[in-house]
Amino acid sequence: MKRRDSRCLIPSALADSRHFSIADSTVTKLKQDAPSLKFQTRQVLRTRPLVAIDIDNAAKSYAGKRVLDGVSMRIDKGEFVAILGPSGCGKTTLLRLLAGFEKLDDGSIALGGVEVSNKHFTLPPEKRNVGIVFQNYALWPHMSVGDNVGYALKIAGVGSSERKRKSLDALDAVGMRDLSERAPADLSGGQRQRVALARCLAANPSVMLLDEPLANLDVHLRASMEKEFLGFHKRTGATMLYITHDQSEAMALADRIAVMDKGRLVQFARPHELYREPRDEMVARFIGNGLILPASSIAAASQPGQVMAEVFGTPHRVRAPLSGRAGAQLSVHPNDLALANDDGEGFSATVERVVYRGSHNQVDFHPDAMPELSLTLHAPLDRAVAPGHAISVRIDDGWVIPAAA
Ligand SMILES: Nc1ncnc2c1ncn2[C@@H]1O[C@H](COP(=O)(O)OP(=O)(O)OP(=O)(O)O)[C@@H](O)[C@H]1O
Ligand SMILES: [Mg+2]
Repeated sequence: MKRRDSRCLIPSALADSRHFSIADSTVTKLKQDAPSLKFQTRQVLRTRPLVAIDIDNAAKSYAGKRVLDGVSMRIDKGEFVAILGPSGCGKTTLLRLLAGFEKLDDGSIALGGVEVSNKHFTLPPEKRNVGIVFQNYALWPHMSVGDNVGYALKIAGVGSSERKRKSLDALDAVGMRDLSERAPADLSGGQRQRVALARCLAANPSVMLLDEPLANLDVHLRASMEKEFLGFHKRTGATMLYITHDQSEAMALADRIAVMDKGRLVQFARPHELYREPRDEMVARFIGNGLILPASSIAAASQPGQVMAEVFGTPHRVRAPLSGRAGAQLSVHPNDLALANDDGEGFSATVERVVYRGSHNQVDFHPDAMPELSLTLHAPLDRAVAPGHAISVRIDDGWVIPAAA
């Protein structure tokens, strides 16, 4: 069968990346795939080479400025990992290094145990069997939806009837089969993103990299697309790396979350661990509307892992690492704070604002000992509170983190 060398799937004018391609092995596998999606999915799960990603001490600078600084992580086969961090922290740079669009200054990257990048060598993108979904979808405007999805197969020399069938199967998987003749311009943002996913599915990569794929969509569409991604992951079994700066998206989707800040990996853990045991103030603030309270006089409590910490002059039982911490702050969330009875168990504060949230009232308040600090708790609807009221606040749970650097 006819083969061509060029596998450039995305026009440079459209894509943030320079190129997008699939490997020969993928094409060969696609040719073996079964006609129906159900069968194709089973085939994919059975035959796809499951691939772990090993990033070891990756470093990258642009014009002398360090953008990635010694990032190391291992992503397991078939794992769904979110890379989370503020704008400019190096998320896209890491993804471009994984895809092979950029060269490493130092360290190494291995896919499926095979080193694909180090400071001397960069395996080109088309040899990596990696699929990418961009924020801007990067569809060709002059091609129909079906042709966009099937283009990789066309370039690979797959015959037209087989190509059509595989494209329709991929579109079926994202609920877009009926729109295969449409032009991308005549689709909504969510539909375009589904087409981009179908294109990835048709190419059948072992590793999928997604760079803020929902950033252009409204809140409702985001929620339904989150389900789409989870279904997609379950169906394909691909190792997925999903970049976002939206912590709730990361929490909803990922097996594990890598939190980055200023080019460094700060913490790589399961969502509940990041929420309950953030490593430092940056992670604590980033996850779950985290709040930081000053804490002092940390003393061991009766149970291991628990300590008594003084916050605004009142002792509270909270959790701390077994190694203990000297200078300290307390990481809490609005759900960890509660209105106390007036029997001295809480610290005193003044209500600033009360917002009705349906299931509860959101109460914004200032501790009297530190009026410049703004905090939030969730109060039951039957507790009468109003701006200006004096309240007493209980801390039901908290995690001791190091003092601010
Ligand atoms: N080709 C380049 N040349 C010079 N500087 C670059 C280049 N690419 C990225 N940078 C810089 O590297 C830093 C990290 O950029 P990167 O795009 O990886 O951030 P990000 O975490 O993806 O941010 P965002 O959430 O805004 O997309 C930024 O300061 C950026 O300006
Ligand atoms: Mg980015």
